[in-house]
Amino acid sequence: MKEELALFGGKKGFTRVEEFASATRWPVFSEEEKKAVCEVLESENVYAPIEQFEREFAAYHGVRYALAHNNGTSSIHAALFAVGVEPGDEVITSAYTWHLQVTPIIALHAIPVFCDVEPKSACIDPADIKRKISKRTKAIVVVHPYGAVASMDEIISLAQEYGIPVIEDCSHAHGAKYKGKKAGALGDVGCFSLQASKLMTGIEGGVLITNNEEYYERACVLGHYERIPRLKKEKYRRYYQPEKEMAPSCFGFKYRMHPLAAAIARVQLRHLDEWNSIRRHNMTYITKAINEVMGEIGDFFEPPYEAPNTERVWLNYICQYYADKNGVPRERFIEALKAEGIPATGGRTGYLPVYWNPIYEERSVWARGYPFDAPYVSRKITYEKGICPEAEKFWRRTVGLPVIHRRVSRDLLEEYVAAIAKVLRNIDALK
Ligand SMILES: Cc1ncc(COP(=O)(O)O)c(C=O)c1O
Repeated sequence: MKEELALFGGKKGFTRVEEFASATRWPVFSEEEKKAVCEVLESENVYAPIEQFEREFAAYHGVRYALAHNNGTSSIHAALFAVGVEPGDEVITSAYTWHLQVTPIIALHAIPVFCDVEPKSACIDPADIKRKISKRTKAIVVVHPYGAVASMDEIISLAQEYGIPVIEDCSHAHGAKYKGKKAGALGDVGCFSLQASKLMTGIEGGVLITNNEEYYERACVLGHYERIPRLKKEKYRRYYQPEKEMAPSCFGFKYRMHPLAAAIARVQLRHLDEWNSIRRHNMTYITKAINEVMGEIGDFFEPPYEAPNTERVWLNYICQYYADKNGVPRERFIEALKAEGIPATGGRTGYLPVYWNPIYEERSVWARGYPFDAPYVSRKITYEKGICPEAEKFWRRTVGLPVIHRRVSRDLLEEYVAAIAKVLRNIDALK
């Protein structure tokens, strides 16, 4: 059915702008968070929410330990330190992620080895992990990008074969599942950002989870001096020697979570499953509708992917647009969607391949090119364009649509997908 696109003066397909803006706004706090914050301010033990939050977060994931952090980046630093990453070691990481997932590797004077991604999901590709494992590999960091869960069976079996720990960066995947098990509890250590855009938040914050006592205690030693007297292992408790009138001392970082962030995060955790299921309902409705249209007209547009055996979550809704299949540039397609009232985004919507960041070229950012050119690095490290072609292609194809976080009427969803379908069906008019 040919209809005049709004871009050319036709009737706008989607007009429920205000209702839509309120349903896509995130985060939104309620009286519950405000009450929780006030209770802390009025309480005698203002630090109590941190460990309360840890107990609840650990229970939610079915793990022994949760260690709250001031942000996700510090929890990743702690995880890498916990599993024993040392200067000159190599850490395998996805080329397609937020760059602060990778900088903690460099902060430990270790070398990031970028792995390519699976074309549909942008999840790290186990086949490329296998190619990049070497005797220098000390850890594998796996992100679940935008909420899509990586191929964990393949990754974990590779890691076990080579005896390498797996760190999951679940900053996009709070509450996601793989074969019924929660993301973060699949590998050896799970890390979460609780920054404001995340599926549950403390406005800022992070958490590290693990079942491994040694990893937990090492993470405490790195950045939580107040925990040292309570650690089980003597080798770590010796950083607190009251008989010598010494205060507990850690390795120089202070990664404690802000207690008000913990109070907010406690409330958010209680709602996480309910919120994830609302998002899931909305976004799977849209995905199904787009797939139906595409089934009739071609393969130039793909909504986000959900792998079998996974229950992904919806931090973002990042689609793939193949301009080479229809000759219409991505920006033109986005312009047409926007004209219909669909707030689509392109360009920086997706992550740039991490190694495109100037710090991987300008070795002078750290003194004398450290760590890349340090004496303990046994091979020449370079990060040329093209080393992870799928990640580069994925970024060029991204078209972002908003996530609908709140319950909306069926009418709204129908009008929304009809407006998208209108552009898809009339793509040739954009040539
Ligand atoms: C995938 C990923 N990892 C790590 C981080 C870092 O978390 P934070 O901003 O809380 O330090 C983020 C933050 O956006 C992220 O998206």
